[in-house]
Amino acid sequence: MTDDAIAPREHLTDWLRDAHAMEQQAEAMLKAMAQRLEHYPDLHSRVVEHLGETRWQREQLEGCLTRLGSSPSTVKDITGKLMAFGESVVAMMASDEVVKGAMAGYVFEHMEIASYTVLIKAADTAGDLQTKGVCEQIIKQEAAMAEWLLQHLPATTSNFLSRSARPGVEAKV
Ligand SMILES: [Fe+2]
Repeated sequence: MTDDAIAPREHLTDWLRDAHAMEQQAEAMLKAMAQRLEHYPDLHSRVVEHLGETRWQREQLEGCLTRLGSSPSTVKDITGKLMAFGESVVAMMASDEVVKGAMAGYVFEHMEIASYTVLIKAADTAGDLQTKGVCEQIIKQEAAMAEWLLQHLPATTSNFLSRSARPGVEAKV
């Protein structure tokens, strides 16, 4: 390996930091959604459930980073780091309209699925089977959430449309 070569393990560590930042975004976003949605109880409880999963995911990633020799302070440094794509989805999710929020959630879950697909391969290549196992568990939760959001998007849409058409009824959240 020449001086400018980068070992898979370094990329893995870097991408794990990105995933950690992504989960921090997800946590903030889901927390904001959980505070609203009072007229959409099914969506609300699924969001609350995934908020719990997301916190667990963030802790798991912190464990992987620590194991790879990335200090807790490094983890702290990336707090608030936003990826441009995530940021635009978060903006959409922060919208006070439930349909846009559900759509943005679905898109965000797919960004997560892509990230963990990359991480699984990178961890495998770097020989870090513990990180690979963690990412395999996380990706199942993301895929289940994405699937749920898609399955429930028609119901969310029709609830929104019927509430919206009634005078004096709050439809957005
Ligand atoms: Fe996640």
